[in-house]
Amino acid sequence: MAQQVKAVIARAKGAPVEVTTIVVPDPGPGEAVVRIQACGVCHTDLHYREGGINDEFPFLLGHEAAGIVESVGEGVTEVEPGDFVVLNWRAVCGQCRACKRGRPQYCFNTHNAKQKMTLLDGTELSPALGIGAFAEKTLVAAGQCTKVDPAAEPAVAGLLGCGVMAGLGAAINTGGVGRGDSVAVIGCGGVGGAAVMGSRLAGAAKIIAVDIDDRKLETARKLGATHTVNSRTTDAVEAIRELTGGNGADVVVEAVGRPETYKQAFYARDLAGTVVLVGVPTPEMTLELPLLDVFGRGGALKSSWYGDCLPSRDFPMLIDLYLQGRLDLGAFVTETIELDAVEQAFERMHHGDVLRSVVVL
Ligand code: APR
Ligand code: ZN
Ligand code: ZN
Repeated sequence: MAQQVKAVIARAKGAPVEVTTIVVPDPGPGEAVVRIQACGVCHTDLHYREGGINDEFPFLLGHEAAGIVESVGEGVTEVEPGDFVVLNWRAVCGQCRACKRGRPQYCFNTHNAKQKMTLLDGTELSPALGIGAFAEKTLVAAGQCTKVDPAAEPAVAGLLGCGVMAGLGAAINTGGVGRGDSVAVIGCGGVGGAAVMGSRLAGAAKIIAVDIDDRKLETARKLGATHTVNSRTTDAVEAIRELTGGNGADVVVEAVGRPETYKQAFYARDLAGTVVLVGVPTPEMTLELPLLDVFGRGGALKSSWYGDCLPSRDFPMLIDLYLQGRLDLGAFVTETIELDAVEQAFERMHHGDVLRSVVVL
C-alpha cells in the first residue's frame, strides 16, 4: 500500500518551498522505504529550488539524511527493516568500468529508486540527488542505505550523507593528507570545516584555515585549525607561504568553488603538492593559469566528488570514530529545526550564519 506523508517540495523556480503531502510507493525490487529521522539543509537543495540544477520541477528536497529502514522490496539483502542507516548518493553499480577495476568510489553508474514518488494528483517528483529526504518517509534504492551504529545521533549521522563527507573525504581520500603534513583549507563553511577536521584526524601537523568571515575562522579553530587567515584583509597565498617556511602547504583544499580561490590554492601549495577542488563552480566560470606554472610546480591538481567516499567503507568507520569521541561530527549541527522551517534555514545559510541546520522529524 502506497503511503501519504508530509514532505518539503520546490514547486517552481525561485518560489519558496512548501510543506505538502506526497505519495510514497511500496518498495519494489531492490528498493527500500526509509523513515527519516533527520536531514541537513545543504546548498544543493537551494540550487534545486533556484532552478540551478535542472528544470525538472517539482523537486522533493533534502539529501543529507539518516533514518530507519521501514520496508524493503524483493531481492534486497544489504539492509532490513529496523536498520539505522545513513542515505548516500553513491549506490555503486558493481558493473561499470570503475567498479570492475576495483575502484567503486568512482562508480560512474550509481543508481536510485526506479519507482517515482508523486504528489496527490499523480505528478511525479524529482528527488534531490536521487534521495528526497525532507519527508517523513522516502523511497530509495537499497544501495543508498548504509547501515551504521544506531547509538549515533540521527542529526549528526545524516550529515555524512553529503557536505561533511565531501569535506572529510577531500582531505583524507582525495588529498591523501597524512601524519606531519601541512594543509591549507580555503573556505571554511560546512565542507571546508570538515576538511579541517579530516586533516586533524589524519595527523596533519599544520592546518591553516582561510576564510573572509571571522566567525568561520573561529569555528575552524574549534574544528582543528592551528592557524587562521582572513583573506579579506590578508593575502592568502603570502600568508600560507609564510606559515610554511616560505614554501606553501603540502595539500590545499579549495572549498569555495571560484576561480580566484582556486588560483590561491594553486599558488599556496608547495612544489609537488596537491590541490583538491571540492567547492562546486558554476557553468560560466573559467580559469586561466600559466601552463609553465602548472608544469613547473609539479604535483597533483585533483577534484573531489563527494570526498571520493565509498559509503560502505567510510560511513560506519566515521560514525565509530564519532562515538569514540575522536571525531566531533556534532560540531557541524548549528541548529535543529522542524520540517516547515526549511525556507528560513536557506536564508540563514545564505547569510553564513550556520554550518548546518538540520531538520529533525
Ligand atoms: N575566500 C575565502 N573564503 C570564502 C570566499 C573567498 N573568496 N568566498 C566565500 N568564502 C567562504 C564563506 O565565508 C564560507 O565560510 O566559503 C565558505 C563557504 O561555506 P558555505 O557557504 O557554508 O558552503 P559549504 O556548504 O561549506 O560548501 C562549500 O562546497 O560542496 C560545495 O556547493 C558547495 O561550492 C560549495 C562549497
Ligand atoms: Zn559502478
Ligand atoms: Zn548536499
